[in-house]
Amino acid sequence: MTDIDLDDRTIVLHDAAAFDGMRAAGRLAAEVLDMLVPHVVPGVSTLALDRLAYEFVLARGAVPATIFYRGYSHSLCTSINHVICHGIPASKPLMNGDIVNIDVTVVLNGWHGDTSRMYFVGDVPLKARRLVDLTYEGMMLGIEAAKPGNTVGHIGAAIQKHAEKHRLSVVRDFCGHGLGRRFHMAPNIVHAGRAGDGPELRPGMFFTIEPMLNLGRADARILEDGWTAVTRDRSLSAQFEHSVGITETGAELFTKSPTGLDCPPYAA
Ligand code: MF3
Ligand code: CO
Ligand code: CO
Repeated sequence: MTDIDLDDRTIVLHDAAAFDGMRAAGRLAAEVLDMLVPHVVPGVSTLALDRLAYEFVLARGAVPATIFYRGYSHSLCTSINHVICHGIPASKPLMNGDIVNIDVTVVLNGWHGDTSRMYFVGDVPLKARRLVDLTYEGMMLGIEAAKPGNTVGHIGAAIQKHAEKHRLSVVRDFCGHGLGRRFHMAPNIVHAGRAGDGPELRPGMFFTIEPMLNLGRADARILEDGWTAVTRDRSLSAQFEHSVGITETGAELFTKSPTGLDCPPYAA
């Protein structure tokens, strides 16, 4: 997600060949998250997951977009429990009961595929599982609102309404973003807002929808590493992210899991 002010406010409308490029990039990003599913268990480090992702992406002729991105040096963001986003992979092992967001962006043939999902580490308490479920539902409601005739504000309004109905807060410090040939571009996609506000959605727009919902307050703080965003009240936070393209009738999902692993629990 981006907190930068996009200096180029022109929203690119992409053609059919671009949709093909995004389908391939989005699918590869989703395959990274599928591949990681059996590896997200108590005792594994997020750094080990990062290495698996790095090898997987390179072996398929792509590169992780986040390496060398504004000084970042990993293939994944791994955001555990009260970490909202941009958690840096580390050697500390995951613990039973953790919830973790894994976010990956790949560049394949010049196109960016950006997606994230939550994972359960072992047995996760009900209130954390509920937060994860509601966050996934919020993202999907945002995607349903992503269609020609609506504006960016309709997406934010749909997510915010769902979150607040269930007494969750929506993080305002980070937004979804346009993407395509570049990682972060216009438009900025708010996850809370008013229907009718912001740019109108048109066929050919590509962007992410990546809401972050908290059990407690919405306020965020960045740690001294310059990246890790946490909830100020240390309440749990969850996030999902899809990359989508606007069509004549709605939104095409570029990053859907090819094996149905879109939302936990994943294990049989
Ligand atoms: N993938 C994140 C997003 O959804 C961006 C991560 S930038 C990084 O936009 F440098 F923190 F990796
Ligand atoms: Co993103
Ligand atoms: Co992302």
